[in-house]
Amino acid sequence: MNEKIAQIRAEIEQKITTMKSSSALYEFRKTFLDNREGKITGLMKGMKDLSPEERPAFGKVVNELKSWAISRFEAADAAVREAELAKKNESERIDVTMPAEKRPVGALHPITIVTQELIDIFAGMGFDVYEGSQIENDYYNFTALNTPKDHPARDMQDTFYLTDEFLLRTQTSAGQIHVMENRRPPIKILSPGSVFRSDDDATHSPMFTQMEGLVVDKGISVCDLQGMLDTFARRVFGEGVGTRLRPSYFPFTEPSVEVDVSCFACGGKGCKLCKGTGWIEVLGAGMVNRHVLENCGIDPDVYTGFAFGMGVERIAMLKYGINNIKALFEGDMRFEKQFVR
Ligand code: PHE
Repeated sequence: MNEKIAQIRAEIEQKITTMKSSSALYEFRKTFLDNREGKITGLMKGMKDLSPEERPAFGKVVNELKSWAISRFEAADAAVREAELAKKNESERIDVTMPAEKRPVGALHPITIVTQELIDIFAGMGFDVYEGSQIENDYYNFTALNTPKDHPARDMQDTFYLTDEFLLRTQTSAGQIHVMENRRPPIKILSPGSVFRSDDDATHSPMFTQMEGLVVDKGISVCDLQGMLDTFARRVFGEGVGTRLRPSYFPFTEPSVEVDVSCFACGGKGCKLCKGTGWIEVLGAGMVNRHVLENCGIDPDVYTGFAFGMGVERIAMLKYGINNIKALFEGDMRFEKQFVR
């Protein structure tokens, strides 16, 4: 028996010095230290062949062997772990002095820039933003806006119908109805978003962006409308730019106006940009038609309001001197990187 112990001890002594990896250590532990199959446990099992007098002394020697083996194992294990960690650290080392890879930086699209600028201007005057949905039903896009079926004004906007009832909204004015159905005056909202019309040339695109404004409260008049538009014109096109209202027609406003700004290129003297007139048309507006207020359960004898709607592409094209709307849809970074707010 003592011979066997000496043999195992020698075996451990020899093996432990060759331990270079955690998998080798795992094998080592299984071979010698496993509580069921390990060689040391095997020695313990052999005890039954000894006489009762021999057993205590033998047990003591085996236990000593076991704790000695465990301490050798632990030392080897710690050394292997340290070596493996050092190796990992070495292989994952980062050279912080290496030049960084260049990543191209994008730019805000001019439509995004102008939309944000408009929101800033009107938010400063107390407007909230309401974003409606791009698919509307006929009621919100037309009927509630005082444009029932067969109304000739439907021809003003060439509509993409999805079904008899649903369509791609042709105007953010649809949002006015949602807001007035759900809120009581005072109402002051701004509604930006994409709109769709079957229209396509150098200044029109089948999808474009509108910015709607709606104010409803007691005693709102055309003066309030023009006051706000003056602020808008100065902030977008520059100090000294004024507005002019011309009579127009929209079914949902009465009276309706077309809003011009004085030409910011020539100061109103007349140039190529304003085609010699000194004025540039920028948006449509008017006092909310009493039928529209009624459709939303707002008493037109108590409340009045104004609304305006502008094409963001048009504002961007004027502001940045872009002459073909297609440039706004091509996604060419050389074009898009030129615009800063
Ligand atoms: N919705 C109109 C259009 O798309 C613009 C408009 C909005 C006019 C609000 C008056 C008031 O042409």
